[in-house]
Amino acid sequence: MASSVDEQQYDERMKMLKAFDETKAGVKGLMDSGLLKIPNIFVRPSEELAQESLLTYKNTTTQIQVPVIDLSDIQSNNADKRKQIVEQVRIASETWGFFQVVNHGIPLTVLDGMIDGVRKFNDQDVMEKKKYYSRDIKRRVRFNSSYDLFTSTTASWKDTLTISFSGPAHPEELPPSCRELAMEYSKHVEILGNSMLGLLSEALGLKTDHLENMECSEGHRLHCNYYPACPEPQLAIGITNHSDAGFLTILLQNQIVTGLQVLHQGQWLDIQPIPGALVINIGDLLQLVSNGKFRSNEHRATTSHIGPRISVACFFSGPLNGDMNKIYGPIEELISEENPRVYRNVLLSEYVANFLSTSMDKYRALDYYKL
Ligand code: OGA
Ligand code: NI
Repeated sequence: MASSVDEQQYDERMKMLKAFDETKAGVKGLMDSGLLKIPNIFVRPSEELAQESLLTYKNTTTQIQVPVIDLSDIQSNNADKRKQIVEQVRIASETWGFFQVVNHGIPLTVLDGMIDGVRKFNDQDVMEKKKYYSRDIKRRVRFNSSYDLFTSTTASWKDTLTISFSGPAHPEELPPSCRELAMEYSKHVEILGNSMLGLLSEALGLKTDHLENMECSEGHRLHCNYYPACPEPQLAIGITNHSDAGFLTILLQNQIVTGLQVLHQGQWLDIQPIPGALVINIGDLLQLVSNGKFRSNEHRATTSHIGPRISVACFFSGPLNGDMNKIYGPIEELISEENPRVYRNVLLSEYVANFLSTSMDKYRALDYYKL
């Protein structure tokens, strides 16, 4: 039986994806081979490209920025100052779902070290990187171009090293090129994650340790994203339009070029890198347990002629290596007659399985669990 044109195109695409995946060299491998045009698997659909100019803010004419929150007073015993910070966190979480933090307590040397570690990992000989190339989610350390390469509409112009930190540490499993630097960053970002969950709990009118007691920060995962310079950035995408699935994300980005964009009033707005700052965003699970009070906003990363752009996203997504039978639902204290429950309960194992079965551009967890 002759297959339709669509089926032929699909088969052709799968073949190209497979060939690319089998190089185990990622997008950087393509660029190192001296590419001048991007392969078809990375070209966004024409309808999407046609929409693009309508959707992008001209940042030269707007001063709009996601809120920047100074955390320097969070440790002081001054209750008023802490209240002011909590109020800023509440407003930012309800409206944008995104903000940047400065004076967060992680030394600049640790941030720069982490970026440097990712650069070193990616710059080393491809044979060394291949040892980590895998899509097996049971592996605590895995390198690939993107987890949804075979399911997404457009392949992402990036390579990602994923490192899971949960349970006892196994430093020997980490690549030597970034081992110490990633361990050090992980230690600091975990502390910041917990103090952010404290502020977020208070911003919901709950006790400081409420979200931590729900095991929201039980383990975390680093996605070290490496976006090589792209010869045709207007046709490609670094990471497609998505919202993060977990509770909370802390994102570190290098300073060379903008890339991260957030959806604001239907248009894409750049999140400008600020030296020493970290981006914080609310994920789908936190929107769900806050019964919709906090917002998990859509975002993406563009590509550029300038590169590499490096980012490290730290996801706090609950006890993924622990009790997968854990159930999350809207927090009782936040539900009342005036505020009825808007989401149903989630079984963590089912939530993760749903997420992994498709691509981030086709599945939005929150729609699925809405009542
Ligand atoms: C992510 C993400 C954006 C970036 O990894 O979920 O949104 O700037 N990354 O790399
Ligand atoms: Ni994201």
